[in-house]
Amino acid sequence: MRAKVVAGNWKMNNDQAATVALIDALKTKPSKAEVSVKIAPATVHLAQAVEALRDSSIEVMAQNMHAAENGAFTGEVSAQMLKSIGVTTTILGHSERRAYFNETDAALSQKVNTALGHDMEVVFCFGEELEDRQSEKHFEVVKQQLQDGLFHIDAAAWDKIILAYEPVWAIGTGETASPAQAQEMHAFIRQTLSDHYGQPVADKVAILYGGSVKPSNAKEIFSKPDVDGGLIGGASLDADDFFAIVHAI
Ligand code: 13P
Repeated sequence: MRAKVVAGNWKMNNDQAATVALIDALKTKPSKAEVSVKIAPATVHLAQAVEALRDSSIEVMAQNMHAAENGAFTGEVSAQMLKSIGVTTTILGHSERRAYFNETDAALSQKVNTALGHDMEVVFCFGEELEDRQSEKHFEVVKQQLQDGLFHIDAAAWDKIILAYEPVWAIGTGETASPAQAQEMHAFIRQTLSDHYGQPVADKVAILYGGSVKPSNAKEIFSKPDVDGGLIGGASLDADDFFAIVHAI
């Protein structure tokens, strides 16, 4: 059976006190069997988050990392730095990184290689913009992102990849892809994986949906057969909402 995952991307929110308070609140929530719960606080709080969650099943992820091993890359963080504080998963390719920090699929493919080289798990984000969908290019765009960012890796490496389909027009907008739109795209993604790597690989990769997931819409989205969980932004900043989403799977 495929992994079920609910992951919170805190983005650039929460100072230290708020980070501690939210983690404390999350720790009081009952876990749900067979759902992997992950959170991605800001980089400066990762070490503290790992410590605070040492006896918890909630896993800490980074929001980003650099492709290089080390060196003159002011302001950046390496895979080895993350590993050294106990962070073994990173988000890569979030649409905000693509849009505001010029991350291309070619650059992301290098980051993927570095993460895999350090035996890290990757939550790889991708998704079309509004104009792509309006011009009915959304399948083409998504396929290209997968091909350019990920299809150079070998089949075995997919054990370390979680996909997160996040249509840009649904992120932080309150606009959600309908459950049918999410299922249609997730099925297309799985078919694209199957065409390239074969059905056994396609069947085991978790594909998360992200974009305005809330307690009120999570259950219907998660009920779709190719939706294996969610990558949650705004609603992950509230412990009650986040765990309502965890329990909606
Ligand atoms: P929202 O849930 O706030 O729309 O954000 C989704 C997202 O970007 C998660 O990475």
